[in-house]
Amino acid sequence: ALVTSTEMFRKAYHGGYAVGAFNVNNMEIVQGIVEAADELRSPLILQASAGARKYATSEYLMHLVQAAVESTDIPIVMHLDHGADFDICKACVDSGFTSVMIDASGLPFEENIATSKRVAEYAHDHGCVVEAELGTLAGIEDDVNVAHDKAMYTDPDQVQEFVEKTGVDSLAIAIGTSHGAYKFKLGTNPKLRLDILDEVAKRLPEFPIVLHGSSSVPQEYVKIINENGGALQDAIGIPEDQLREAAKGAVCKINIDTDLRLGMTAGIRKHLREHPDHFDPRQYIGDGRAFVKEIVKHKILDVLGSDGKA
Ligand code: G3H
Ligand code: 13P
Ligand code: NA
Ligand code: ZN
Repeated sequence: ALVTSTEMFRKAYHGGYAVGAFNVNNMEIVQGIVEAADELRSPLILQASAGARKYATSEYLMHLVQAAVESTDIPIVMHLDHGADFDICKACVDSGFTSVMIDASGLPFEENIATSKRVAEYAHDHGCVVEAELGTLAGIEDDVNVAHDKAMYTDPDQVQEFVEKTGVDSLAIAIGTSHGAYKFKLGTNPKLRLDILDEVAKRLPEFPIVLHGSSSVPQEYVKIINENGGALQDAIGIPEDQLREAAKGAVCKINIDTDLRLGMTAGIRKHLREHPDHFDPRQYIGDGRAFVKEIVKHKILDVLGSDGKA
């Protein structure tokens, strides 16, 4: 069924696991993700960014998710990823999303509060839940490229006031994750600030925390891409053991997009390299879809711990 994340997060919080929020942009990505979650009996969040809505249109995305919901009995949330302002969030609430993110994290604290509060009021009046963000992630989000040294960790001293004043249902925090395939410099030892996460969790008992930018950039897929005509230099992600640790605690939602992109690309490149005579999109996109499914299964089983929780 299409649901909000309220019950999902309550169970995840107390069960010591997190729910994967996977970005969707086309039918095969939706299918790969949903087949994996269905087979492993995992709750699921499908999320669409502004870029996804621009690429596929909101109508196609909603209907793809609707088809997914009819194909399985696991609970599925339809979430807006990185809503830039009130109007985008309102449009998604109005078109049937069960969850929206208002990302006003680039605004000064008081303006972030005012914008997030306005979205929360509208969404709650329409049976939709809201995620907001405090702190700034490094990396590339849509067209905004936040330099690593400009990224700001979430200040635990601000989270209580923010949640109380806005009334949002979950909070994305910055503890060293970042968007995209190039999260860290080669040779560095990537470390999340799990101490900040602990401090935030103390200030917000039983409140669901969200991690963005949590792809691990699996090197086996980078290798397949590079061995089949690709050129990804020094792509590095978040070590899985640190995500596993975060999922055991207050983190209830972990966002993954880049790893699915790598899987889709690896499957397509490998197929076309091995079968230069093929030109039926079902053959090569089908292989991309199979890799997406394989990656989501791995996340559910080995990182999120959400298998069997549907
Ligand atoms: O946070 C960013 C997500 O990976 C979505 O990326 O805006 O290119 O669709 P996108
Ligand atoms: P990745 O780029 O690490 O997959 O992060 C995705 C994300 O945070 C979507 O909001
Ligand atoms: Na958790
Ligand atoms: Zn994000």
